Amino acid sequence: MSVVALPRVRVEPLDQEDLDMAAVFLLKVWRDTYRRTLPRRIVEERSTGYFRDYLKKRASTCRLAWLGDRLVGLATTQQNCVDDLWVAPRFRRRGIGTALLEAATGGLRERGYQYAQAGCEDFNDSAMAFFDRAGWDCIGGDSITLTPGYRVNAMVFSRRLPGTVEGVGRAGD
Ligand SMILES: CC(C)(COP(=O)(O)OP(=O)(O)OC[C@H]1O[C@@H](n2cnc3c(N)ncnc32)[C@H](O)[C@@H]1OP(=O)(O)O)[C@@H](O)C(=O)NCCC(=O)NCCS
Repeated sequence: MSVVALPRVRVEPLDQEDLDMAAVFLLKVWRDTYRRTLPRRIVEERSTGYFRDYLKKRASTCRLAWLGDRLVGLATTQQNCVDDLWVAPRFRRRGIGTALLEAATGGLRERGYQYAQAGCEDFNDSAMAFFDRAGWDCIGGDSITLTPGYRVNAMVFSRRLPGTVEGVGRAGD
């Protein structure tokens, strides 16, 4: 039996030409992540257009992960925060989230930050386990209202960026 090796993951800045594909990807993975926990109305009101506008505003910090010509992951940052980190469900546990997180935090380091932050809701077991395994500290949580009558705990993770020196660079904005 011959075994076909998967191509290596490539993480690249968002090319404007891929904006529509990235929006479709994000809508799909976002819905898959939240459909079991968010009210149906909220899950359905978000559209490709919503995520296209969302990504357009973050285009300068958006990175895409590719396996060959297949889009398998996406990350964005804002100030010193990793805002988005998404991997297609069937490609998880293959190091793609780790590769995206390294690329995203590398960008933060280049912009002079010493610490990065990221967040996820406490019901998101895979993200909680992922950040813990990556060596990030959970530094707190806030109860937030996602929609009237629906509250969740938003957890905040933090990590000193490798290769940075205390007091040199920006601690955070
Ligand atoms: C969180 C997420 C980005 C991880 O992506 P990934 O490609 O599966 O991550 P990796 O393969 O690099 O995982 C690295 C390590 O994290 C830990 N980990 C990741 N997912 C895990 C899970 N579901 N359960 C337990 N540990 C997990 C493991 O230790 C894993 O190493 P291993 O596979 O060798 O055991 C992905 O699950 C995802 O897209 N989730 C939905 C979106 C989300 O919650 N994003 C984070 C908040 S913005």
